[in-house]
Amino acid sequence: MSWNPEAAEVSNPHREVILTGDRPTGPLHLGHFAGSLRTRLALQYVHDQTVLIADLQALTDNAGRPVDVRRQVMELALDYLAVGIDPTASTIAVQSGIPELAELTMLYLNLVTVARLERNPTIREEIELRGFGRAIPAGFLAYPVSQAADITAVQATLVPVGSDQLPMIEQTNEIVRRLAHLAGHPVLPECRPLLSDTPRLPGVDGRKASKSLGNAIALTATPDEIRAKVGAMFTDPGHLRASDPGRVEGNVVFSYLDAFDPSGEEVEELKARYRAGGLGDVQLKRRLEQILESLVAPIRARRSELAHDPAAVEMLMRTGTTRTRETAAGVLRDVRAVFGLGWST
Ligand code: TRP
Repeated sequence: MSWNPEAAEVSNPHREVILTGDRPTGPLHLGHFAGSLRTRLALQYVHDQTVLIADLQALTDNAGRPVDVRRQVMELALDYLAVGIDPTASTIAVQSGIPELAELTMLYLNLVTVARLERNPTIREEIELRGFGRAIPAGFLAYPVSQAADITAVQATLVPVGSDQLPMIEQTNEIVRRLAHLAGHPVLPECRPLLSDTPRLPGVDGRKASKSLGNAIALTATPDEIRAKVGAMFTDPGHLRASDPGRVEGNVVFSYLDAFDPSGEEVEELKARYRAGGLGDVQLKRRLEQILESLVAPIRARRSELAHDPAAVEMLMRTGTTRTRETAAGVLRDVRAVFGLGWST
C-alpha cells in the first residue's frame, strides 16, 4: 500500500477536529461517494479527521445478525481505503474497540429524556421504516446519545453529514450544554455540521437509493453491473424517440451526470439538447456509463489489491482505534469528574 505522506503535512491555522462515520451494514455506493466520501477525501489533508466504523450503532438494529456486522467492518474499511481515505492523514477507528464510548453513552443518557429521544425526527422516520411499532430496541432509540459520545470523545468541532443527521448534532450540543451547566464551566466543545451541497443521489429507479431495493450502484460494481444499472435508469417516460423533447427534472441519468460528469458545461449543453429534442437516451446513457466506469475502475482495482492483505487492513484499524481510544480516555476522565465519579483506576 502506498500513500502520500507529504500531503498530510499541510499546515492549516484553521485546523478543526472532524468526526464522520458510517454503520457497517453493507457496501458503500455512488450515493455515499457523491454525498460524503468525496468531502472526506478533500478534508483529510486540511483537518484532523477521524472516520468511525460505527459497529455498535449497526447492532442497535441488527443485533440478530452480529456475524454480518462483524464481516462488514472489514468491507467498510476496504471501501474507505479503496476510495482514497488515507490512513496517514485520517484516523480509521472501530467503535466497539473504544469501550470509553459505551461509558460516555451511559453517563450522557442521564442528561436526556425518553421524550426527547422520541422527538428526534430521524429516529421517528427510521422506526417507521423498520416497522418496529412499539418493539423499539432501547439501544436504537438511544443511538443519538451514543453518537454524541462518538463526536465528543474526540472533541470534534466539525461533523460532515447529510441533512438527516442534523438532529444528531443538535442532540450532541444539547448534551454538551447540559454538561457545562452541571459543571459550571465548559467541559467539551460544541460541534457544527458541515452539510454536503450535493443533493441526495437517487437510486436508478428514481426512488431513494437503498440496499434492499437493489437500486444503488456499489463502489465495487463490475463493468457489467454498471452497464445494467445505467441501462435500467429511469429517464423520461414521455421521451419515446430521440427527436422528442425530454424532461431533465426527475431524470436519473441527469442526476448522475450532475454528480459525476467532470464537465458541468457539457452537461448543461446536453440538458438543453435533451429538452429541445434530438438527444436520445441511449447516447446519453453511454456517456454516463463511461464516466462511471472510469470513476469506479481504479476504486475496484485498489480494493481487490487491498483485499489480498486483510492483516494489513486490520492493523490500520487497530492503530486508528488505539489512537482514538487514548483521546476518548481523556474526555471520559473529564466527564466522570463532572458526575463526581473517581473510582476507576
Ligand atoms: N449515524 C451515522 C449514519 O447512519 C453514522 C455515525 C455514527 C456517525 N457515529 C457518527 C456520523 C458520528 C457522524 C458522526 O450514517
